[in-house]
Formats: sequence, structure tokens, C-alpha cells
Amino acid sequence: MGQRVGVVGTGYVGTVVAACLAHVGHQVVGLEVDERKLGLLREGRTPFYEPGLATLLTGGLDSERLRFTGDVAEAVASSDVLFLCVGTPSGQDGHADVGALADAVRVIAETVDGPKVLVTKSTVPIGSGRWVEGIVDDAQPADLRRRAPVTVVSNPEFLRQGSAVDDYLHPDRVVLGSDDPDALERVARIYEPILQQRLNGDAASRRPVLVRTTLASAETVKYASNAFLALKISFANEIANICELVGADVTDVVHAMGLDERIGARFLDAGAGWGGSCFGKDLSELIAAASDHGYDARLLRAAKSVNGWQRELVVKKVRRHLHGLRGRRVGLLGLAFKPGTDDLRDAPSLDIARALLAGGATVLAHDPVVRSVPGFPELRIAGDPYEAGERADAVVLVTEWSDYLELELGVLRDRMRGRLLLDSRNLFDPAKVRTAGLHYEGIGRANGVGPA
Ligand SMILES: NC(=O)c1ccc[n+]([C@@H]2O[C@H](COP(=O)([O-])OP(=O)(O)OC[C@H]3O[C@@H](n4cnc5c(N)ncnc54)[C@H](O)[C@@H]3O)[C@@H](O)[C@H]2O)c1
Repeated sequence: MGQRVGVVGTGYVGTVVAACLAHVGHQVVGLEVDERKLGLLREGRTPFYEPGLATLLTGGLDSERLRFTGDVAEAVASSDVLFLCVGTPSGQDGHADVGALADAVRVIAETVDGPKVLVTKSTVPIGSGRWVEGIVDDAQPADLRRRAPVTVVSNPEFLRQGSAVDDYLHPDRVVLGSDDPDALERVARIYEPILQQRLNGDAASRRPVLVRTTLASAETVKYASNAFLALKISFANEIANICELVGADVTDVVHAMGLDERIGARFLDAGAGWGGSCFGKDLSELIAAASDHGYDARLLRAAKSVNGWQRELVVKKVRRHLHGLRGRRVGLLGLAFKPGTDDLRDAPSLDIARALLAGGATVLAHDPVVRSVPGFPELRIAGDPYEAGERADAVVLVTEWSDYLELELGVLRDRMRGRLLLDSRNLFDPAKVRTAGLHYEGIGRANGVGPA
């Protein structure tokens, strides 16, 4: 039996949550303050690129199990459980900015008409569950508090942009944290179709594990998971930099390491480092939270520092090969922070482009889905990858879109005036690049120019 669910904030996470919960049978209303997004969603159009989402969205709208509104009272009246999916970007002091979350909770608390469960799905600082309870308490008059109690459950989200629908419908685990067992079970029931893998025609996979825990532990799981993944990538990059110095090839090294089940192959690729809206801000928040308690999270700070260095390394390599940047032309392949998305938040490509431009180079970039970069007029966008290479002294692969494996490297070479292909994701087979008459350089691969 479908339940009445509200999703507050329909960005990258909220839209997926809303469409997937409607797909598995719930009655879902998405609440969004951004008029442009709201208009698109109501027409069944996704405001961003995410594979498979448009189909679920139109399916939900057609079945009338999904709708979108800008009216808080309507969203609150139509749902018993509300998933908070608003953004929590990094603030000035490293801590996450929870202003949007506080605003959303306050208006919901003032509007409630009966008992509700508020689910924090946004990544929120550890301790936010209790803080949300406090906001509700302050916003509700005493009689409403008795008639319409609001309880809080933490349900961190682990989906990845680019495979978000699949990740949400087939998670490894669902984590629920609350100090109120009834509220927790209420949210667990919403997840029942996903936990049992009864997915409305979608292929079922291994059943996910349901982890029941406290509010604070659930909140910590999210930060600890992201910190570990970021650390794993930074570890691979540290090894890559050592590989360049000692003449080893990091792709062989991490391949062999990853075959050890204790280590695992995923998130062990060397390159230009991680980006996106989550790893950087979540590491900063965890470091700041530790510091508030007098603890210096050295390992987490090192993961961030190595990641920043990798972006600089790409620029250093270009500069070294071209003997300076002034007057040079550089083509960039890939702008999105990773393949499968059009998200540019904390994308390595933008830092790399800024540094190349600051050094006096001209930059022409291509991406299969990103067609413009708002607020960055100096960065010129090419219509296709070959155009990005037009009279370029160097072409730098920044995002490992598999589309780029289809490139005719000989054609690219003929359009370029230089010969350097800097593969900052170790995507290409070096032999193929060299056969096409280009000079290949990767990250941490034998005979690179070294990280120093
Ligand atoms: N993007 C990811 O891959 C990912 C994965 C896991 C967790 N998260 C976490 O999920 C949260 C959301 O991330 P996102 O990438 O979807 O952010 P986003 O910026 O894409 O989406 C947030 C949405 O909330 C809307 N909003 C803000 N205030 C509102 C309000 N009061 N009422 C209704 N709507 C409101 C905004 O207009 C926006 O559309 C963050 O805490 C993030 O850390 C993100």
C-alpha cells in the first residue's frame, strides 16, 4: 500500500528520491522553491542531466503518483513523511551551511496539521537531528506540538550522480537513525519495496541491508563513508605520484592492489582527483566538526591536500611540456566533475581551466553534455572534441567520458599544432595514442615527466 510522502527540495537528490518513491508505489509530492525547476518538473522534464530519470519522472506524473508544487501547505497536508533534500553547501568556516535546511524545517513546522516524520536526507552536520527537533519545537505553539508531533529520522543518501536512479533503487544498504523507534519503522515501511526489491517491473537485485541506528550514528555514517572514498582516491593519487618518481605504472599497481578483496578495485583510480558537490564539503565539515572538539583530523586534511595538488599537477605537466603557458592554446576534453552528469560543482576542469588562463593560455573546452559554464565567459566552449583540439598545443582529457574513447586520434592530431595528449584520467591506451602520432602523458604512468 502506497504511503503519502513529501520531498522537500527537488535538486539532484530530491528529484531522484521523488521519482523513485513514486515508481515503487508511493503517493509523492515534491516541494521546490525554484520556479524554473518547478516548471520543468511539472512538464516531466529534468532540470539536469541524469540517465534514466526522465522516464521515471514522466511515468510518475502519468500515473498521478507524483506531482510537484511550490506551496508548502499543500505539500505538508499531502504527506505524512517528509524527506528533506535541500542543499547543504560548504560555509566560510568549513562547516556546512544549513541555512536552507533551517528555513525549510521552520516553514514546515509552522504549517503542520497532524503528526509528521521529518527525514533528513540532506547530508547534515552530526547533531543536526537534535537541532532540527529544536527548530520544530521553537516554531510550534504548545497546543500544536501536542496535536501534531513532529519526529526526526536521519536517512543519509549514498546515490552517485550519473547512476543515481540505479543506486537509489538498488542500494547496498539503507541507513535509518532515530531516537524514536516508531518513526524509524514508519520510514522503514516506505523503503519496503526497495528492501524487498519489489520494484514495479524493474529488475530486482540483491536485497539491501537495513541498518537501524541512532540519529548521530546515521549522520556520521554518511560523513565517514564519503571521507573514506575521498581518502581512497587520494591514496591512489599519492601512489601515482610515487610511481612517476620510481618508474612504475600506477594503472598496473592499483589493478593488482584492487584484486585483493580486502582493498577492492573501486575508487582506486589515479588522475586529476575527485570533485563534485559532496566530497570536498563533507570532508571540510568533518574536519571542522573534529576541530570543534579539539581534534586535528590529520588524515582527512591530507586527503584534501593531495586532491588539490592533483589539479595543480595537471597544469604543471602542461606548462612543463609546452615550456610555459603564455600564448599557448590548450583544448580540454570534459568539463563535468565526472562522467554521466552535467554537474560542474567543484569540477577539477574549472580549476585547471582557470590556472591555464591565468598563465596566459587560451582554453577551448568540450563536454558531451555541458554546453555552457555560467559565470566563466573566458572559457570558450567547442561544439565537438576535434574543435577543442583545433590548433591546440596540447589537449588535456579531464573527464573520462567513454565517448572520448571513440575519438579518431589521427584526426585530432591533424587538427592540433602541437602533439601533447595529457590524459589526466588514464583513460586512453598509451600505445594507441602514440600510434596516432601523439605524445602521450598520463598520471603516474611509467615515463611520465614526474610530479615534482
Ligand atoms: N548530489 C549528490 O550526489 C548527493 C548525494 C548524496 C547526498 N547529497 C546531499 O543531498 C543534499 C542535496 O543535494 P543536491 O545535490 O540535490 O542539491 P541541489 O542544490 O541540487 O538541490 C537542492 C534543492 O533544494 C531546493 N530548496 C532549497 N530550499 C528549499 C525549501 N525551503 N523548500 C523547497 N525546496 C528548497 C533548491 O531550490 C534545490 O532545487 C545535500 O545535503 C547533499 O550533500 C547529495
